[in-house]
Amino acid sequence: MANERTLAIIKPDAMEKGIIGDIVQRMEEHNLKVIGGKMLKLTKERAEGFYAVHKGKPFFNDLAKFMSSGPCFVLCLEGEGAIIRWREVMGATNPEEAAEGTLRADFGTDIQCNAVHGSDSAETARFEVSYFFEPHELVQYEWM
Ligand code: CMP
Repeated sequence: MANERTLAIIKPDAMEKGIIGDIVQRMEEHNLKVIGGKMLKLTKERAEGFYAVHKGKPFFNDLAKFMSSGPCFVLCLEGEGAIIRWREVMGATNPEEAAEGTLRADFGTDIQCNAVHGSDSAETARFEVSYFFEPHELVQYEWM
């Protein structure tokens, strides 16, 4: 599998629960290396731009409001097959449908407040990583 980069967001509902550490631990346990990270308080406009692909959907406005309601911790992850791997670690979008042991099953509240975000394809990952990170903010390093 190719070495990939993907975008992860620890959403405001998870930030409120104080579980950054638990989530990053899951990333590392699954060989997803954090190569960039920042704390952001999104404006509604910036959240709308990030989720522009969902514009027009019934949940779009509430989603942008939720994502700008509190801090987000945004991370760039790197690893073999990182895009699909991170999606597997997160679990299904709706926490009620997420498999046991996934982040959304463990920490999500409902389909909107579902704790974490991850890019869904290589093309989306390129857009999403560049939406929050300049190239110099991503750091390559070796780990065991
Ligand atoms: P995320 O993986 O970040 O991608 C889009 C987000 O929209 C999703 O997680 C949820 O937080 C939110 N959302 C709210 N309602 C829905 C819905 N009915 N279907 C998909 N996503 C939804």
